Amino acid sequence: MSIELEGLLTEIDHIAIAVNELDLAVRWYEENLGAICVHRELVESDGVEEALLKVAESYIQFVCPTRDSSPVAKFLEKKGEGLHHVGYRVKDCAKALEVIKANGGRTIDEAPRKGSRGTTVAFVHPKTSFGTLIELVQE
Ligand code: CO
Repeated sequence: MSIELEGLLTEIDHIAIAVNELDLAVRWYEENLGAICVHRELVESDGVEEALLKVAESYIQFVCPTRDSSPVAKFLEKKGEGLHHVGYRVKDCAKALEVIKANGGRTIDEAPRKGSRGTTVAFVHPKTSFGTLIELVQE
């Protein structure tokens, strides 16, 4: 693998937590941790509504299903509320995905796609990434 990897990963973009009620989670973080909700978005393609609370240069992202067929609804049913995925900010999402696939890794997205906030994202299967669902996020 001759692709240059240095500097590919630039920041933790967000920690995503699956919740049953978005407003309750946001309020708890605001009232108990002083975190501020800076963005809310309905992501139709994923069947979720999300809320982003800024912490320094990163976010806490709450994800809440908007329909039963949403992967997050299935996650909540199976595991209950809790840590859902970690979003790593990358310089080049397509390149990061290409490296993982070239090394035999399993991905959920075949190619980068549109994420919330106008980002470009791709998910890596937790079977490949040591039990944690990874989202590669390019701003
Ligand atoms: Co995410």
